[in-house]
Amino acid sequence: MTTVNGFEIGELREAIKHEYRLVADKPETGFHFHTGRPLARLLEYPDELVDGIPESSVSSFAGTGNPFRIGVLSEGEYVLDIGSGAGIDSLIASRMVGATGRVTGIDMTDAMLAKARVAAAEIGATNVKFVEGQAEALPLPDESIDVVISNGVFNLIPGKRETLAEIFRVLKPGGRVQIADIVLERPVSESAKENVELWTGCIAGALLEHELEQAVAEAGFTGFEITWREDVFGGAPQESNAASFGTKGITFKAVKPAN
Ligand SMILES: C[S@@+](CC[C@H](N)C(=O)[O-])C[C@H]1O[C@@H](n2cnc3c(N)ncnc32)[C@H](O)[C@@H]1O
Repeated sequence: MTTVNGFEIGELREAIKHEYRLVADKPETGFHFHTGRPLARLLEYPDELVDGIPESSVSSFAGTGNPFRIGVLSEGEYVLDIGSGAGIDSLIASRMVGATGRVTGIDMTDAMLAKARVAAAEIGATNVKFVEGQAEALPLPDESIDVVISNGVFNLIPGKRETLAEIFRVLKPGGRVQIADIVLERPVSESAKENVELWTGCIAGALLEHELEQAVAEAGFTGFEITWREDVFGGAPQESNAASFGTKGITFKAVKPAN
């Protein structure tokens, strides 16, 4: 696959990196989506999850839901955070899994990785590492991960089928996904799909609910369930026409069947 919706994949990736470099380096810029601590409140992250996470990480938070709402992680688990951004969810996960667990955050944007690494060092989180990589080609061995989390990323990925196949590959049998993302209630028009700002702003690349469910099932997962739906764009500093597409933040879960 070299193009999607008329975009060269390479150009689309550069546009996404450009947007999220800005979220990392200048989080005070107004975006089409909410960011930072106000977003964490909107998404109902309990204070005890966010307390103690470095402000640099919190201020560049750009998720669309709360993956921990689906369930807490257990001590000793190995967690993969796809599109870990400035590291907030990875750092929360690192506290949940404790010294006997591990977290790997993967992201393709250098400025986000740099911020996440500084934040981890600031709180002495030694069970978490941040690795440069693409969701569509995860730099991890087969059957090594207990749980995959991700927040606000899947909609941005041009290779959704490849990404789901990669998640399935790296999960242990019986492993699970707890993902926050975006779905659409109505298909995006062809012209909107070609609007790169709508793509980088987490709208044009999103799927309809039934398309998401079908893609997850086709990758081999069972137990797909959307566990939460909310308007997460309303009142954003540069609120776009997200509402006209029926854009919703969601969380979903699914399981890789045990052997
Ligand atoms: C909306 S931000 C969310 C960041 C973080 N999960 C959070 O909740 O704050 C999306 C992140 O996904 C990363 N990303 C987007 N597409 C990616 C891909 N195909 N592979 C790896 N990272 C990707 C971006 O660089 C960015 O840091």
